[in-house]
Amino acid sequence: FVKLGLITSWSTFLNADNTKQKISVFPSFSKPLAIPPILKPKLLKDGTKEYNLNVQEGIVEFLNGSKTKTYGVNIDFLGPTIRVNKNDTLKMNVKNSLKEETVIHWHGLKVPGKNDGGPNRSIHPNDTWTTQFQINQRSSMCWYHPHTHEKTGEQVFKGISGLFIIDDEDSLNLDIPKNYGIDDIPLVVQDRRFDTQGQFLYKQSMHDTMMGVTGNFSLINGIVDPYVKVSAKTIRFRILNGSNARIYRFMFNDKRAFYQIAGDSSFLPKPVKMTTLLLSPGERAEILVDLSDLAGKGILFGDELGGKPLLKIFVKDEKAQKYEIPKKLTTINEYKNIIEANVREFELNIRPGWLAINGKQMDMKRIDEIVPLGKTEIWRIKNPQRMPHPFHIHGCSFKIISRNGNKPYLNESGLKDTVLLLSNETVNIAVKFEYESTKKYPYMYHCHILEHEDAGMMGQFIVKK
Ligand code: C2O
Ligand code: CU
Ligand code: CU
Repeated sequence: FVKLGLITSWSTFLNADNTKQKISVFPSFSKPLAIPPILKPKLLKDGTKEYNLNVQEGIVEFLNGSKTKTYGVNIDFLGPTIRVNKNDTLKMNVKNSLKEETVIHWHGLKVPGKNDGGPNRSIHPNDTWTTQFQINQRSSMCWYHPHTHEKTGEQVFKGISGLFIIDDEDSLNLDIPKNYGIDDIPLVVQDRRFDTQGQFLYKQSMHDTMMGVTGNFSLINGIVDPYVKVSAKTIRFRILNGSNARIYRFMFNDKRAFYQIAGDSSFLPKPVKMTTLLLSPGERAEILVDLSDLAGKGILFGDELGGKPLLKIFVKDEKAQKYEIPKKLTTINEYKNIIEANVREFELNIRPGWLAINGKQMDMKRIDEIVPLGKTEIWRIKNPQRMPHPFHIHGCSFKIISRNGNKPYLNESGLKDTVLLLSNETVNIAVKFEYESTKKYPYMYHCHILEHEDAGMMGQFIVKK
């Protein structure tokens, strides 16, 4: 469970040069960070960008000397980054080269239900699912992952996930680091558990279902304990918590301040200064950190909750580059002046062996909510118990209105699609759907602890006029 006190063991034990390490197995940080390649589309005559995604099996040597069987998209583990502009029209061909059914969901994308993947759709082995949609949302880092009925957790664990970056005027014009993989570095953070043969060890017991599957190995972009080399300047990290169940509180080992500039679905109005960043499964955050004082030195980026460094950052021995963060990043006009709105309540339920929302376990034959198209509603999500749950909604970007009656955290002042509910929290969000979803292809709302989702903490809704 998320503890609210500060746990700074690894940060106090460790210097940047590792001299004071006291953890018995301290990561060697010997492998360079991989950067997911950007997938090139084929440009069709009418301007549509066509992307081919092939969901396939792979083999990766995560641990020295063992060959782990994996899944990936076009590559052995994880998938390429899809990078598009607002208003682009996309044609996605998703081929299933696995020996089992799968389907891909565009997490964070505002697309009609019929163009999205969910448990109600399935791509059979050797089939290809083609779908076309337009990008109609703000610059943000979204992602894609499987959403296979009762198998989402396992298929994500095996490696199917990729980033989906959207650019607009804000992201292109702001004076922020923009060199993908150089000073604008994506970090897909995941944890994994291995068996003695070096194979992924997925769900084993009811305990795994209840607590979610976590592991003692940390992967960033598919690399165990990586390092990265950067210039002596301000660096932008775009972080996705792509773990099945682990909640992280990211920080640097010298506890230096950094600025969050974006959340799940938009930039924040202003940069938010912080020293730790809580990120639950499904959530994204972009941060700027000034490393210009560290020329020729290193620093660790890690997880306070897990008490563990995750990434070693080497700063090149070169002249420091000065930079000033813009004071203003964007204006959020969405969800202003809500006068009257329908309130819809969702209670997250967890009992041994039973996970549900509003007392009901996910049932593909049942539609739980019918939501009017284009109308702002207040969704009130309640977590009456101890375990934290990240609540996610398909097909929208929402705004958090309050947490337990208080203002949301400053770094939640942008648009989002996933919100973490800590123990006994009630969160109100304003949400509006701009596309329809039908009985055949409904949208989902669910806990993004993937074992909870697969075990029934999920509901279906349609959106109609
Ligand atoms: Cu990222 Cu319905 O999921
Ligand atoms: Cu989603
Ligand atoms: Cu949950």
